[in-house]
Amino acid sequence: MTDDRDRWNERYRDDDFELPDDPVPELARRIDTLPEGRALDVATGSGRNAIFLAEHGYDVEAVDVSDEALAQAHTRADELGLEVDWIRADVTDSDGEFQLEPREYDLIVVSFFYAPALLPELKEALAPGGVLVYEHHLRSSDPVEVGPSDDRVRFRSNDLLRSCLDLTVLHYAEATRHGKEDGRPSTIATVVARKSCGGAQSYPPERDMRDVPRE
Ligand SMILES: C[S@@+](CC[C@H](N)C(=O)[O-])C[C@H]1O[C@@H](n2cnc3c(N)ncnc32)[C@H](O)[C@@H]1O
Repeated sequence: MTDDRDRWNERYRDDDFELPDDPVPELARRIDTLPEGRALDVATGSGRNAIFLAEHGYDVEAVDVSDEALAQAHTRADELGLEVDWIRADVTDSDGEFQLEPREYDLIVVSFFYAPALLPELKEALAPGGVLVYEHHLRSSDPVEVGPSDDRVRFRSNDLLRSCLDLTVLHYAEATRHGKEDGRPSTIATVVARKSCGGAQSYPPERDMRDVPRE
């Protein structure tokens, strides 16, 4: 998919295009309850989730179609003295250089990349007990200023939840979020779901919402 590669490279070369450095909020909030080990950050961009996971001791692979994005991510990781396996590939290309293998990852993160067709493979790529954290824009009737202009690459209400019902859903939310810097609203679905390994399993402690930091 050369078009995607060129299009995203162009965006990353634009000084006005900047992604946050912080990981997605639900990943940060839950990091102490997530399984340790191998992690995959799909469509990593400038690497905010991958870098956060490397900081927390994960063995991280991070894949993106854009060379420019990976160069930025690599530079930031180097500055922090962190190692991540940065992979340039189109994750939708079934014959491409990056192929998902079953039961490989303890944690998979996808943020702000619309990939419903990839979800079956992502779930299969989770190790038993592995967790998927997926966050993406929702279609909305409210005015939203952030995210794709084309509703076809936004989830409808409950799409993400429904796609994860064969996992144990630990968290699902649909909410309007305001940008930390510019206050611009976006509507976002977040799922945290674990590949169950049987009827009996352990569950993370209930969180006291008064202590939950907001982005
Ligand atoms: C909106 S950015 C999100 C980046 C990052 N996940 C974050 O939340 O900051 C979407 C990313 O998807 C990547 N991307 C788009 N199509 C892709 C594909 N087919 N395979 C891999 N990455 C892709 C883009 O290069 C871009 O970095």
